[in-house]
Amino acid sequence: MNAGIIGIGKYVPEKVLTNHDLEKMMDTSDEWIRTRTGIEERRIADDSMDTSDLGFEAAKKAIENAGISPEEIDLILVATVTPDQPFPTVACMLQERLGAKKAAAMDISAACSGFMYGVATAKQFIESGAYKYVLIVGVEKLSKILNWKDRNTAVLFGDGAGAAVMGPVSEGRGVLAFELGADGTGGKHLYQDEYVIMNGREVFKFAVRQMGESCMNVLEKAGLTKEDVDFLIPHQANIRIMESARLRLDLPEEKMSKTIHKYGNTSAASIPISLVEEVEAGKIKDDDIVVMVGFGGGLTWGSIVMRWGR
Ligand code: UT7
Repeated sequence: MNAGIIGIGKYVPEKVLTNHDLEKMMDTSDEWIRTRTGIEERRIADDSMDTSDLGFEAAKKAIENAGISPEEIDLILVATVTPDQPFPTVACMLQERLGAKKAAAMDISAACSGFMYGVATAKQFIESGAYKYVLIVGVEKLSKILNWKDRNTAVLFGDGAGAAVMGPVSEGRGVLAFELGADGTGGKHLYQDEYVIMNGREVFKFAVRQMGESCMNVLEKAGLTKEDVDFLIPHQANIRIMESARLRLDLPEEKMSKTIHKYGNTSAASIPISLVEEVEAGKIKDDDIVVMVGFGGGLTWGSIVMRWGR
């Protein structure tokens, strides 16, 4: 039995914060942010919405898109580093609000790689026959843990949510292989101590190395080569890091997802948000080979290769 993505949904808050808005808040410039990161604007959730509210909106759409009812979900995995509170988990909050009565629920803490960890975990439960449907939500309200006086971090991140329902798919389709990894020795380069603290240059070096490596590794595991890849969805952290992964796979620009200019880095939400946008735009079609790759705090990384379609 192959596990694959059978439904997707996303939600981003309405409020747009542009680079020009940030110029008025701190010593930065639209020019610097645009050329160093590729970000033009990001979405910021107001006080009326916490992480679970963002996740709920995306999850509802993914379940509807999958054509199943919440009662059929066996497991809810929420990838986030900005939960409403340490516990109960966001996954349990969604279990109640969605009415997913029989679902087990837990949060996954793997920072920006969280959605990749979720997809790989869901695959195990489905392909072992233990569970049929798993809901995975990548969601962050990073704005609540940003120091709005620190230009090194505040300009980079945004809020949002992306969700996917995974379940059995037809022969040859679904998640073909995954790679997950961690290097705790790099934890000191990106962490939360009240606010997000980051050594941008160190994370940048790690990301460029690891994204490309992980793409190649996961393709090899699936018995594929870079020539087989139809579309790449990299974690949207910095356009220069994304470009390095694209060039490693020798893909033309139009075959890589780019949503960073609109949403900034939404951590665990960036890959599923991008997936929704590309599928809706018709850029990912049935039987396309799609690589998704992320990296983040931990340090962690993860990649997936899938043949799209139910
Ligand atoms: O999801 C994972 C999360 N993290 C990442 O993916 C981050 C990875 N790292 C990066 O994306 C990049 O390292 C940054 C975008 C964070 C920084 O870009 P950089 O090219 O590595 O710049 P830098 O850190 O080497 O800084 C260059 C200059 C510095 O000034 P000096 O020391 O050369 O005078 C910074 O103070 O740019 C300055 N700077 C800024 N200037 C205007 C740093 N942030 C800003 C800013 N506006 N927001």
